Amino acid sequence: MATMRPFVIVNCAMTPDGKIAGRSRRQVRISSREDAERVQSLRTSSDAILVGVGTILADDPHLTVKGAAPTKTLLRVVLDSKGRTPENARVLDGSAPTLIVTTEECSKTWKRVEVLRCGIGRVDLRILLTELYRQGVRRLLVEGGGEVIWSFFAGGFVDRYCVFVGKMIIGGSTSPTPADGEGFPDEETIPLELVEVTRLGDGVLLSYEVVRDD
Ligand SMILES: NC(=O)c1ccc[n+]([C@@H]2O[C@H](COP(=O)([O-])OP(=O)(O)OC[C@H]3O[C@@H](n4cnc5c(N)ncnc54)[C@H](OP(=O)(O)O)[C@@H]3O)[C@@H](O)[C@H]2O)c1
Repeated sequence: MATMRPFVIVNCAMTPDGKIAGRSRRQVRISSREDAERVQSLRTSSDAILVGVGTILADDPHLTVKGAAPTKTLLRVVLDSKGRTPENARVLDGSAPTLIVTTEECSKTWKRVEVLRCGIGRVDLRILLTELYRQGVRRLLVEGGGEVIWSFFAGGFVDRYCVFVGKMIIGGSTSPTPADGEGFPDEETIPLELVEVTRLGDGVLLSYEVVRDD
């Protein structure tokens, strides 16, 4: 029987030259106002939102739904194998339930958050997704960064990929892209089906479904 896991949506914003941040890895505002609004409703319709510790260290995001009082609680999930999330990170502010996912070797604890240890060396996504499903997470929103998105693709865990293409060039061979990591061998790719193209202000939202053999 197939293991039950949440439906996984990857969402990010990139430039037309395929970058999601500047070469110093600092955040660049790529989304239009309309896209930022869409992201808020995407968060509202999700049960959990996930980022890697690289994004926590670079952007220090809050990962909550802004504006009106949310109708349900969004679980914030951080992948952090070595316990690098600083105690003063915004994601640890106690304003929403938060789960730091680390490895069995990491003994670090944080105030105000739950810690899940799964995997050796690096967080094991398969174990994590099974656990999130067990905890009631049915829609998981993965917001980055490039290394984490790559791992979700590489593991075959992405169901929908939404990328907003903004209107500036960042350039640079070291600037992060939507799917960094090691990449597949040349002959291997992940096939996608384009399911929606929407203009949002000065940019375009591309939505894809991952094509599966089974
Ligand atoms: N434009 C956008 O939409 C957008 C959105 C988010 C972020 N960003 C940008 O993306 C950049 C950060 O991306 P990043 O690639 O450096 O970091 P990241 O993907 O946020 O985090 C990567 C880190 O997560 C940890 N991790 C734990 N388990 C993992 C697993 N199974 N697979 C992959 N990573 C795992 C690893 O650190 P440990 O080994 O220490 O655990 C890894 O180095 C920043 O520049 C940020 O501004 C852009």
